[in-house]
Amino acid sequence: MLQAIKYNKGDLEILDQLQLPFVQKYIPIQTAEDGWHAIKDMKVRGAPAIAIVAMLALASELTAAMKNDQLSKLPEEVCHVIRDKLTYLVTSRPTAVNLSDAAGKLEIVVTNCAKVTGSHGRDIATAFIQAAEDMLGKDLEDNQRIGHNGAEWIAANAIKPGNSGVAVLTHCNTGSLATSGYGTALGVVRSLASKNILRHAYCTETRPYNQGSRLTAFELVHDQIPATLITDSMAAALLADTRVGVNAIVVGADRVAANGDTANKIGTYALAVLARHHGVKFLVAAPRTTIDLATGSGQDITIEQRPASEVTSIKGPRGGAEAADNIAIETVQIAAPGINVWNPAFDITPSSLIDGIITEVGVVEKGSDGQYHLGGLFDSSI
Ligand code: MRU
Repeated sequence: MLQAIKYNKGDLEILDQLQLPFVQKYIPIQTAEDGWHAIKDMKVRGAPAIAIVAMLALASELTAAMKNDQLSKLPEEVCHVIRDKLTYLVTSRPTAVNLSDAAGKLEIVVTNCAKVTGSHGRDIATAFIQAAEDMLGKDLEDNQRIGHNGAEWIAANAIKPGNSGVAVLTHCNTGSLATSGYGTALGVVRSLASKNILRHAYCTETRPYNQGSRLTAFELVHDQIPATLITDSMAAALLADTRVGVNAIVVGADRVAANGDTANKIGTYALAVLARHHGVKFLVAAPRTTIDLATGSGQDITIEQRPASEVTSIKGPRGGAEAADNIAIETVQIAAPGINVWNPAFDITPSSLIDGIITEVGVVEKGSDGQYHLGGLFDSSI
């Protein structure tokens, strides 16, 4: 399986996604600062992956501090350091809620640990490291459940008479490279393929950063899933083509508000509008860590603005894809110099356009009032 994150007892390495699909190179992440830069520079990206890398980056720093006897004995002091570094890590990217959700949960872990009478600074760091490591395994299990739940829902609700299997369109990258493994929306595609329900997968290029053509296409080829790449502008023509017969669009999410409005990669909203026009099911696949009940609607979600250079230029290997392993990735300007640029990294899809939200505990649909009620997903009985 493709692995974006390799972690073993304080040794963290990430696959440098700026060099994919041409060069597969792991880079070490030893400190919270390394983690912050890797996230900001998009060496690692995707909502679940950035949360896990941020927490494991700090876990690695704490592991080294313990080994080198540089950790304070005072629990409050260690708590203070951890809180500061968590606050800093959360500033790396604003839209995906998984990052602040993970930071909030781990802050509670260390605060509770510090309340234990007689605790030592080392106990606080150990509790943090354990909780961060648990997140890695939990995310993989959740993704496998999301994949299964989504595939079952699509098989039950999106197959039209005469279809032999389903054709699915996905956007951005939501696979192993965006998570701890398997993926969310791409996990649904993987699950459909493993259950022999998938006729064909289509992925968008996902301009401006090309997560679709660089990462999703790479994963689909790697897993030998029958798949075709389209540019974002071809989606309407694809949905209109009855010979293709797309049954469902499945996307990931960076933050799902309490009312179901969903922030995801720019271009998602356009696909949801197209899906409604063409009578195609539109599904969001995300773990519960992406659902933010504290945010009422999409209007309250901060959308990250990215540099103009991502739109005015494109990255690729000098010498072409066939070049040797140590090729350099170069940036080529493709837009007229001096043009103004608007580059929001995400957009908001209104919940009214979403037919279902696929989570690890089931697929949520709108209630009889036409609204999503996501609070039930967090019932302690689940
Ligand atoms: O800017 P990115 O590449 O971090 O954006 C990623 C996406 O929008 C994904 O679709 C989303 O995070 C879901 S990842 C499982």
